[in-house]
Amino acid sequence: MRKVILLGASGSIGTQTLDVMRKNPADFTLVAFSVGSKTRKIAHIINMYPDVKAICIKDKNKVNYYQSKYPNISIYSGDEELLKLIDTDGDMVVNALVGFVGLKPTLYALEKNKTVCLANKEALVVGGELVNDLLNKGYGKLYPIDSEHSAIKKCLMVDSSNVSKVMLTASGGAFRKLNRDQLKDVKAEDALKHPTWKMGNKITIDCATMINKAFEVIEAHYLFGCPYNQIGIKLHDESMIHSYVVYKDGSMRLDLSKPDMRNPIKLALYEFNTEFKTIIANSLDQFKDLHFHDFTFERYPIVKLAKYVINEKGTYGAVFNASNEVAVNAFLKDQIPFLAIEEIVNVLMKKHQNIVHPTYEQIAEVDKNTRKKTYELIKKWRKD
Ligand SMILES: NC(=O)c1ccc[n+]([C@@H]2O[C@H](COP(=O)([O-])OP(=O)(O)OC[C@H]3O[C@@H](n4cnc5c(N)ncnc54)[C@H](OP(=O)(O)O)[C@@H]3O)[C@@H](O)[C@H]2O)c1
Repeated sequence: MRKVILLGASGSIGTQTLDVMRKNPADFTLVAFSVGSKTRKIAHIINMYPDVKAICIKDKNKVNYYQSKYPNISIYSGDEELLKLIDTDGDMVVNALVGFVGLKPTLYALEKNKTVCLANKEALVVGGELVNDLLNKGYGKLYPIDSEHSAIKKCLMVDSSNVSKVMLTASGGAFRKLNRDQLKDVKAEDALKHPTWKMGNKITIDCATMINKAFEVIEAHYLFGCPYNQIGIKLHDESMIHSYVVYKDGSMRLDLSKPDMRNPIKLALYEFNTEFKTIIANSLDQFKDLHFHDFTFERYPIVKLAKYVINEKGTYGAVFNASNEVAVNAFLKDQIPFLAIEEIVNVLMKKHQNIVHPTYEQIAEVDKNTRKKTYELIKKWRKD
């Protein structure tokens, strides 16, 4: 029986993780969890899992209320106290947080030798070097939840010899049928209509800008040790092939299934120790009902930043992520146009003075300063 600590229990991945656990009650129980502002979900989760010993919420002002409502459970609050959940006797941490807030708990869980199932891709974009340092020193274990990386891991588990390329598939997001000129006036409500997946707001906007795919290229680099030029992108309309590996003889191995995040979540929870299928193919043309298109940097220029972050490392990932987080929020509030997201990210990346081999504290400082600079840029933008 695995004792699970679930960070981000109220979100899209968090809710689906609870679904998977509930279907496998002999194998998983929940001992601690966090929610952000959706505290109304607490009662339902506790009803399902009476073993819960600790909860972290975002708002410090609500701690007394929940502590008196649940006297036998420790109630914590804020980003720092997320770490207290990891100090419970849970042995597996599912990180379903969104954004930079997910990095520190990932590092802390590994330091405490826990098994981490990671949905929070931002942790690897910002702190991939720190995460890998800990894993290489033998601290903890890490399994990807992102569907593309779960697919690649499966394929490499079956055959990792003579790999020519790791190919990430991409739906293209809500605006995949629009050219760049047509992106000028698009609104958040349109960007939130993802064609194949139902996810949290931030990742859905990241799919529309394709910054999500840049993040996934960086994520693949840290998870599988591939250099930038060994990672490719293929546009694929139906999100049925979740990614694939191409071998030196031209053959490919791929993962084909309906888009449902519960599959990669389950695989990560079982540490990839359950039966899974991969398919061998000679060409994507074999899949007559599926549609594929070549990815181009002309249509999605922002994805070039992945090369920069992988090759330069240091604190560029922190700037990429923080400027994007703030700009996406501003777009969601209708404060800036869609194309301003990538313009703002580009400006901040160009201005940044890299710090090589940063500590967590240096990364956190860069994150804070980048957020400040991004807010200033957005303020100026709104005045012009
Ligand atoms: N959704 C997917 O299908 C999918 C697929 C692949 C990868 N991912 C990755 O998985 C991660 C989670 O995505 P999601 O779609 O599940 O996002 P989501 O629905 O927005 O959920 C995010 C979770 O994090 C919590 N949270 C947000 N900010 C917080 C903060 N400052 N402090 C504490 N908790 C905070 C939210 O709490 P409240 O909602 O209560 O405020 C919620 O529980 C992201 O990194 C995303 O890129 C998601």
